[in-house]
Amino acid sequence: MKRRCLTVAAALGIGGLLLTAQSPSLPHLRTENGTTQLVVSGRPFLILGGELGNSSASNLEYLAPHWERFRALRLNTILAPVYWELLEPEEGRFEFTLVDGLVAEARKRDLKLVLLWFGTWKNSMSCYAPAWVKKDQRRFPRSVDASGRSVEILSPFSAANRDSDARAFAALMKHLKAIDGEAHTVVMVQVENEIGMIPDARDHSEDARKAFAAAVPSELMAYLLKHAESLTPELRELWQAGGGKRAGTWAEVFGNSAAAEELFMAWHFARFTQHVTAAGKAEYPLPMFVNAALIRPGYKAGQYPSAGPLPHLIDVWRAGAPAIDFIAPDIYFPTFVEWTRRYVRGGNPLFIPEALRNPDAAVNALYAFGEHDAIGFSPFAIESIGEPGAGLLASSYELVDQLTPLILEHQGRGTMAGLIQEHPDNRQPQQIRLNGYTLSISFERSSPPSLADGAAGSAAPGATVAWPAGGLVIATAADEFLFAGIGVTVTFAATEPGWQTGILNVEEGSFANGKWQNVRWLNGDETHQGRHLRLVPGRMSIQRIRLYRYR
Ligand code: DGJ
Repeated sequence: MKRRCLTVAAALGIGGLLLTAQSPSLPHLRTENGTTQLVVSGRPFLILGGELGNSSASNLEYLAPHWERFRALRLNTILAPVYWELLEPEEGRFEFTLVDGLVAEARKRDLKLVLLWFGTWKNSMSCYAPAWVKKDQRRFPRSVDASGRSVEILSPFSAANRDSDARAFAALMKHLKAIDGEAHTVVMVQVENEIGMIPDARDHSEDARKAFAAAVPSELMAYLLKHAESLTPELRELWQAGGGKRAGTWAEVFGNSAAAEELFMAWHFARFTQHVTAAGKAEYPLPMFVNAALIRPGYKAGQYPSAGPLPHLIDVWRAGAPAIDFIAPDIYFPTFVEWTRRYVRGGNPLFIPEALRNPDAAVNALYAFGEHDAIGFSPFAIESIGEPGAGLLASSYELVDQLTPLILEHQGRGTMAGLIQEHPDNRQPQQIRLNGYTLSISFERSSPPSLADGAAGSAAPGATVAWPAGGLVIATAADEFLFAGIGVTVTFAATEPGWQTGILNVEEGSFANGKWQNVRWLNGDETHQGRHLRLVPGRMSIQRIRLYRYR
């Protein structure tokens, strides 16, 4: 998989801004062998994250009782909002108490932070804009819907809107550099939150109308021509359907459709976001990304937040916002596998800043790390997670923590895969070809054997819980695999014709400081008398298997 990393250098010169040289110890993204890693304090770092509910970081006292639990959940990173309305309550007067408190509390517990800039847009809306912005519509214009009504969405077509946000964001980044430029508690920053236009595919304000009737900007046309061979199929089709024109208005080049309107809007959201991001990076160049609300099946642009950083629009976002390092999905749908696949297209590194905090999060995390070399995973409203999801997530993160050196070693080598049931009703075993074997994986989502067996978490008596099933596999040596996860049964077949496969031995174990510790040798009933490997349902575990071949 070829991946791309837009480094800080990409932001150089944007808007005439000069960036300071990147210190080697500054958190940054590094791409090697087609895999992008987040490097913190000089070492690759996997984010075992949890995102706070929207309002939980607005008062440090409210948050205080939750910090200890975050450690118990085995999180190493908290994703926490920074609210423009509280950061800049009066124009030009900045209040950093909340940010300082977040950084201090996280640092005390050896937790990292990803800060979420709730600036101009939060889930399309501009609800986090300060009162002095909200109340001055003349200076800070709104978007307008197709019926001509203003909506509470600041217009991306306004330089005043853009510059006010950029000034506040730059002030935040400058302050972060001052308080955290050495310790690096904050490792990445999300710019805005779930940008997108509703209820129509595009803004219908006067400025938007003029921009839509104008020519497609030459920067975007140049990008399309330069990357014609690697454009996402959706964009290529739209462009080709209009005859592949090299110039013209948006409708002339991309057709008279909601899809063309979405493209147009994505360009303008991206340009605005570029300006804000570059202003922030000019102060303190941490890795920065944007997140997206995904598309509900059957919804059209405008019904879903149109023009956000969605995979079919990645080229437009890349062309318009080169200072953004990657785009990220907020995955709340059961189609987790499909969305992760779409988000790694074109070398985009996978980071999931928001995910459903249900029991399946525990295996979705393992899948993301195993299958897609994910930078990190993070269920939403982590302070509210209940059982059995909490116990399962903690066990899953603990496994990833143990396996981190191995996972990092195997990234980008094609020797690691994720185990998951792609659709809940798909009973076909998952098939993976790895290191000379075909692995057939089936999934057990039944209830755990018994709590006495060490089941993670506990459901209310009588409650039916769909236990998660899945994990990851690493080909650790010839004829040897390491499995981590829950509720999976695996059989093996040598891919070379004429050979049968047998199990030499299976161990259950764990890693302490990167060294394998045997818990017990598994055979007999535990391997179905040498026929398979089974990670029991209801409890996360690690097993190592050695195979042999016979005729
Ligand atoms: C996605 C948003 O990004 C979050 O801030 C939050 O509003 C959740 N949706 C709520 O489900």
